[in-house]
Amino acid sequence: MATVAVVLAGGIGQRMGAGRPKQLIEVGGRPILALSVAAFDAHPGVDEVLVVMNAGHLRDAAAMVAPYRKVTRVIEGGDTRTASSAAALRALADRPDDTRVLIHDAARPFVDRPVIDRVLAGLDGYEAVAVGVPSSDTIVEVSGGMVAAMPPRESLVRFQTPQAFRLGTVREAYELALADPALRATDDCGIVHRYLPDVPITVVLGDERNLKVTHPLDIVIAEHLAAEDS
Ligand code: CTP
Ligand code: MG
Repeated sequence: MATVAVVLAGGIGQRMGAGRPKQLIEVGGRPILALSVAAFDAHPGVDEVLVVMNAGHLRDAAAMVAPYRKVTRVIEGGDTRTASSAAALRALADRPDDTRVLIHDAARPFVDRPVIDRVLAGLDGYEAVAVGVPSSDTIVEVSGGMVAAMPPRESLVRFQTPQAFRLGTVREAYELALADPALRATDDCGIVHRYLPDVPITVVLGDERNLKVTHPLDIVIAEHLAAEDS
């Protein structure tokens, strides 16, 4: 069955504050968006790449990803990440339920083949796959400025992307989510977990290099990582 990678680049990069979407910034001489797309384009297990871009930069994105032959479409995203994922799922409406779909943050340009391999392997046994890395910091739940809960660090991971799904499963979860006026989510596994709670989500190991370029400091780190790769 076909495997489609969705690269989400619909955000505006408010926290980066670069005056343009952060995925258009170059690191190591290449735009972040191009690096993310290149990883999936080069992976032998991926058949097709779908790029979701914010409305104002569709042409920039199309020009940037033109060299990658697996990119079939560059579509317009929505106001939230969830809306951008939903737009991608709508663009895949005619695909069979057993299509494999990987949903990736364009802002993670250092996703590499081993991470994608582990995600695809996870999909062999499960309908939903997340990528996590252990946290070196202790993570606590805070409420009103006070510690509310301290889950043991060994039981916590930080999620990265790509998250992978059987298309029929993530599609059903989104149908339920979009009908919920109280919808709140930060990622696609969050939507499956909330709206299809009986679907087990396996967690495979990510990579510290697979950081999400979010704040200006991340550009400094990204330049170092890009220099290591070249
Ligand atoms: N994203 C998207 N559509 C949106 C918002 C986010 O496709 N409406 C994408 C971003 O482009 C990014 C990924 O989702 O690749 C993760 O989002 P985030 O890191 O929050 O990026 P931004 O929303 O652009 O940044 P910020 O929250 O600082 O504005
Ligand atoms: Mg955001």
